[in-house]
Amino acid sequence: MAEDCPQKVPAHVAIIMDGNGRWARARGLPRTMGHKKGVEAVREAVRTAGDLGISYLTLFAFSSENWRRPEAEVTDLMGLLKAFIRRDLADLHRENVRIRIIGEREHLRSDILPLLLEAEETTRNNTALTLVIAFNYGSRDEITRAMRKIAREVEAGRLQPQAITPELIDAHLDTAGMPDPDLIIRTSGEERLSNFLLWQGAYSELVFVPEFWPDFSRELFISTLERFATRERRFGGLAPITAAAGQ
Ligand code: FPP
Repeated sequence: MAEDCPQKVPAHVAIIMDGNGRWARARGLPRTMGHKKGVEAVREAVRTAGDLGISYLTLFAFSSENWRRPEAEVTDLMGLLKAFIRRDLADLHRENVRIRIIGEREHLRSDILPLLLEAEETTRNNTALTLVIAFNYGSRDEITRAMRKIAREVEAGRLQPQAITPELIDAHLDTAGMPDPDLIIRTSGEERLSNFLLWQGAYSELVFVPEFWPDFSRELFISTLERFATRERRFGGLAPITAAAGQ
């Protein structure tokens, strides 16, 4: 574990990487340059998360709503993700990183799906950081797909409606088996969740930072974790001191 590591490191950090376009515009550069720098920030965030002993790092790479962007930008983002997997998979595997992909897969283009599956398959037994890439992901879509799977089981008579519990719903989400995010970070000053981990983030701490994603450095990651470390998490219960005093 690194020396500059905050004391209370969350097990699962999820990040909405926002502001690539504004980072580029502020420098008079095309948006594509912002996304390119964004990939470098991804590499640094993955390294930092591994160094600090974070178990799960989830990155919102492409939302189910991002298809509404101009075709050239969609192609650009796809190209960057493909290049990232092609170039970085071997290094990530060597560093014992396990990759998991969340999001709708069935309708993905044939040039991207096999790469995502290969990344998962190659790294499936790795035991260091789990890097979760949210790709073609939207929470409402994920929950809808989970509900359909559950409804089919009920329809087939394999499941009683009373057996539908939060745990059962968890097990039908793309994130099945992962802990809920302790911390959700969003860069660029926007303060909303944008359809990201809505179910899983029920008790997540939210930290919004004004910097654009390409500027999300190791130092900024660590200072964000320090802000998290000051939060008191109650999960709907009472603060320990209040509970002890019976107030
Ligand atoms: C938001 O910036 C960022 C995205 C829509 C995509 C994030 C993708 C990457 C960083 C690259 C690929 C990912 C991986 C995991 C290799 P924006 O374009 O919405 O910025 P703006 O709000 O300033 O326009």
